[in-house]
Amino acid sequence: MADATETGAPEVALDEIVALAKRRGFIFPSSEIYGGVGSTYDYGHYGVLMRNNVKDEWWRSMVRERDDIVALDSAILQHPRVWEASGHLEGFTDPLVDCRTCGLRFRADKLGDAQCGRKPSKHPGEFSECDLTDAREFNLMFETHVGPVKDTASTAYLRPETAQGIFINFKNVLQFARKKPPFGIAQVGKSFRNEITTGNFIFRTREFEQMEMEYFVPPDEAPKWHQYWMDARMRWYTDLGIRPANLKLRPHDSDELSHYSSATSDVEYLFPMGWSELEGIANRGDFDLTQHANASGEKLEYFDQEKGEAYVPHVIEPAAGVDRTMLAFIVDAYDTEEVEGRKRTVLRLHPRLAPVKVAVLPLVSKEGMPERAREIYEDLRARVPAEYDEGGSIGKRYRRQDEIGTPWGITVDGQTMEDGTVTLRDRDTLEQERVPAEGLNDRLAAKVAEPWTSPKLS
Ligand code: GAP
Repeated sequence: MADATETGAPEVALDEIVALAKRRGFIFPSSEIYGGVGSTYDYGHYGVLMRNNVKDEWWRSMVRERDDIVALDSAILQHPRVWEASGHLEGFTDPLVDCRTCGLRFRADKLGDAQCGRKPSKHPGEFSECDLTDAREFNLMFETHVGPVKDTASTAYLRPETAQGIFINFKNVLQFARKKPPFGIAQVGKSFRNEITTGNFIFRTREFEQMEMEYFVPPDEAPKWHQYWMDARMRWYTDLGIRPANLKLRPHDSDELSHYSSATSDVEYLFPMGWSELEGIANRGDFDLTQHANASGEKLEYFDQEKGEAYVPHVIEPAAGVDRTMLAFIVDAYDTEEVEGRKRTVLRLHPRLAPVKVAVLPLVSKEGMPERAREIYEDLRARVPAEYDEGGSIGKRYRRQDEIGTPWGITVDGQTMEDGTVTLRDRDTLEQERVPAEGLNDRLAAKVAEPWTSPKLS
């Protein structure tokens, strides 16, 4: 199989990822029994476990292993004036065109990427019958109503980013956390955007989850911290197994910058559809705190005791998407190879991201093996996420575990019943060693904690 590290070309088609995700219970199209609802997905058992691992790794790096960042979980529904002050009501728009002939809608600035509804495949505007309207600005926020009366006074919005919940809590956090800049507030949660064009599986959806951290710094230190967070975030992805050749930082051109940003760089990943944004790392300056201070009348600043003066901190924001990150980890881990004349599909996930760390399999369902295997499994699962599986041939069971990315497999066989040893199989090398069943949980917990690099690099 061609390797993106050599060719610079995506090495797996998105369809293969979508098929694996469904087949192995990671991600399902939502409302499928009703014919589906566009670009909305449900996460199945392994998807939930892996997603939790992704978020946990983010929390670990942002909060657990640092002293300067605290956690927050703000509400999805906020005061409508939040979105006025943040600039979203006015400026969170995409240019939209309608086709009067086919009734489809397109982003005016992405016509070259869009497909007209007619056949053969052409871009909107390319058929003589295409009749596109002029572009008009379309606000991406989902509007809803709070309370029983549907009038303008009850209008509310589903948050389009988690960030604003952090800015409006700046004062609360400053008071309770006794932090001084540089310090950060981290949040993970759902955001909603009425995207005109969605697609590419979970890459762009209308409901998605973000992992955002706002890092408040003295104004003259903002460029330094911007660089710091770009480096730290790139490292996070590569430490968790993304191959460096598939990751790059791309600074925004000045005409791409969001209304709040003085500088942004995107972490881009080589997705099956090409290089695309995985995370944005922005220097938001004092835009948000100043806007909310002006709109609310509250002082949102830090008083520097040493200098005897107050200032509005500047903000550096690494903003990642959980779903896109999941997709990148799965794509980067996806591999196929031929083993003994048969195709093997395997997710070579970092063990810390793998939904299940170890599978315990009795060789056959008799001679006391299932009972002994269950004992071992119950001992293991107290320390590491484990799975017990006794259905079907051992080969089929291993193939299933390979496809969900389980790094280790334990087989309980006839010899186990005699001398208390089991075989320990490695997902990537396929090597099997005989080890004592005694102490397996310590051994596996230690293996999960070890540094790891993708075997696709060697
Ligand atoms: N607070 C800044 C902010 O929201 P953004 O670049 O619009 O910045 C940050 O979003 C990240 O959220 C993106 O890099 C992406 O990973 C994720 N994201 C944004 N829109 C998304 C969508 N429609 N579907 C899935 N993920 C999305």
